[in-house]
Amino acid sequence: MQDKANKRHILVTMALPYANGPIHLGHILEATQTDIWVRFQRLKGEDCVYVCADDTHGTAIMLRAENEGISPETLIARVQEEHERDYEKFNIGFSQFHSTHSPENKRLVQAIYLKLKENGHISRRTISQLFDPEKKLFLADRFIKGTCPKCKTPDQYGDNCENCNATYSPADLIDPRSTLSGATPVERESEHHFFKLPEFTQMLKSWTRSGTLQEQVANKLNEWLESGLQEWDISRDAPYFGFEIPEAPGKYFYVWLDAPVGYMASFEKFCAKSDYNFDDYWRPGSNTELYHFIGKDIVNFHTLFWPAVLESAGYRTPNGVFVHGFVTINGQKMSKSRGTFINAEDYLAHLDPEYLRYYFAAKLSSAVDDLDLNLDDFVARVNSDLVGKVVNIASRCAGFINKGFAGKLAQHNSEPALIAEFQAAKDEVAALYEAREYSKAMRLIMSLADKANQYIADKAPWVIAKTDKQSSEVQEICSTGLNLFRMLIVYLKPVIPTMAQSVETFLAVPPLAWDSVDSTLNGHTIGAFVPLITRIDPADVTAMMEAVTASQASALTQSAPVATEPVDSALAKEPICEEIQFPDFAKVDMRIARIINAEHVQGADKLLRITLDLGLDAQGEPTIRNVFSGIKSAYDPATLVNRLTVVVANLAPRKMKFGMSEGMVLAAGPGGSDIFLLEPDNGAQPGMRVM
Ligand code: 2FM
Ligand code: ZN
Repeated sequence: MQDKANKRHILVTMALPYANGPIHLGHILEATQTDIWVRFQRLKGEDCVYVCADDTHGTAIMLRAENEGISPETLIARVQEEHERDYEKFNIGFSQFHSTHSPENKRLVQAIYLKLKENGHISRRTISQLFDPEKKLFLADRFIKGTCPKCKTPDQYGDNCENCNATYSPADLIDPRSTLSGATPVERESEHHFFKLPEFTQMLKSWTRSGTLQEQVANKLNEWLESGLQEWDISRDAPYFGFEIPEAPGKYFYVWLDAPVGYMASFEKFCAKSDYNFDDYWRPGSNTELYHFIGKDIVNFHTLFWPAVLESAGYRTPNGVFVHGFVTINGQKMSKSRGTFINAEDYLAHLDPEYLRYYFAAKLSSAVDDLDLNLDDFVARVNSDLVGKVVNIASRCAGFINKGFAGKLAQHNSEPALIAEFQAAKDEVAALYEAREYSKAMRLIMSLADKANQYIADKAPWVIAKTDKQSSEVQEICSTGLNLFRMLIVYLKPVIPTMAQSVETFLAVPPLAWDSVDSTLNGHTIGAFVPLITRIDPADVTAMMEAVTASQASALTQSAPVATEPVDSALAKEPICEEIQFPDFAKVDMRIARIINAEHVQGADKLLRITLDLGLDAQGEPTIRNVFSGIKSAYDPATLVNRLTVVVANLAPRKMKFGMSEGMVLAAGPGGSDIFLLEPDNGAQPGMRVM
């Protein structure tokens, strides 16, 4: 495409993956979300640079290297190679992938620190922390376990209890011990360097309100800002794998100070090999745009510390921080103990990366919601959309053109209105990509694909070709079909770049650009049809999950304990579901009800039929409901009669195998005999609303 005058100059980053573990599907979700946005910008002709790096510092990496008997430098070099390989297979189009353990990052973070210091934004004071006397290092909270001081549950991490959710300081734990050596930690004092974050409260308040953040994120940030910011501890004592703080021997920058500086370092590395200018992108008032894509777990680092550090150091602040949720697998948090922790490598051994890119796109929105990779839905969606709708158009049309017309497309399209409709969708699809509303974009594109298929089905070129293979009508119908197909591929190119490239070869056209939809191919000779994408065989998904489960089961039984981030720490109990907003919750009308009858249901293993009295209605009539409840394993129905319970009163009636269920009673517990019906105090009366 022609170079655009007035093009945007955009710098995009995604969160830097830690160098202490492999790339997993959570990383791939973020990389896909970011890469689609970047590819869309580039397709439109904008100038869009995309940088990333490995996040290499900190105690966990130091300990892992020690465990493997290698230097941290050797470890991070090996991991970086693996990370780059995985991202490349998923076709992530970085301009630069670098490392936070690089000369550029060292120079930048040291200069930034000196600037903060010069501006009076660094303070120093002595603090007391737990120290492992055997390993001879200070212990971060996650490396300390002990008994919860509140509920006395053993084996809890140093900052909060998974059983009672109490938060505390590690020194409050009963019988604390280091997870690294088993030794009892001792308190020890050392001087730390702090960044004076509270001085940036006003600046952050206005930055937050400048349209940089999703509403949900801005609201969270406002809460933090309103409740008052604390100074941020940016130093760690030796031994620590990182960069030493200038003029402070034995003190190192905390990994989270130099990690985001890694965005700048990676861009600087990119500048060195191109004609981009570092200052053009980082000076205050720059007319370039800067966006960070991140996960919801690292919002504070990117929306509080990072903009404040940039401001103090005399750099520009980001135009946007785009936050996404986590990946779940079949509705469950990814977990090694459940065998649902899917690494990029596991996926790639069995399935084509473009399937997942499409599936993620089909489910991503601009919201912070988690995204569920439901494996059955994944197979169904990809097969139905990409294979059944999109590729189907080309495979139905290509043979007629290649065999009957030596690959030559007609001079005219037989359905100009349909072509125009596809062209007219261009701005709407673009706006949806720009706003990261990919699922809406995919829906719109698939609705166009449905129309193209309908057109071909209505015209049935195969019927005409039966009597005349060289009928100009067949040529026109199939040429129109291929032109519609070509436009769909333009719209999908940010999502499925590899398939788009195969299409370019098949159609014998130069790389498609966004504006390619403005024209059609007429009288053009296409190439031979190449298989573009095959259906997902569900057996491949099964094989992937079997391999994942088997390797995780053996890793869990064989591996020595290694210091890693506590990914599974919240698994002792059912994970908390996706966050909802208050208005969603407010829709649930919970009422007190009295059980007036309870009985077994013939043929049902788990259910009891329960009749409930929800109090009097406006006319003074009793509100009686029948519900089916899966509590048979825990309750003898006779013991339930006359008890009070809580019922979701506005749940739409559901037809079940044994009859209509008109609501739901609330119970808790893991199952079997451990199911507990929620029972309000006797002062409650049927019909009262639960608040
Ligand atoms: O949470 C993480 O995985 C961090 N490694 C992300 C760092 S992002 C940036 F600030 F470097
Ligand atoms: Zn507790």
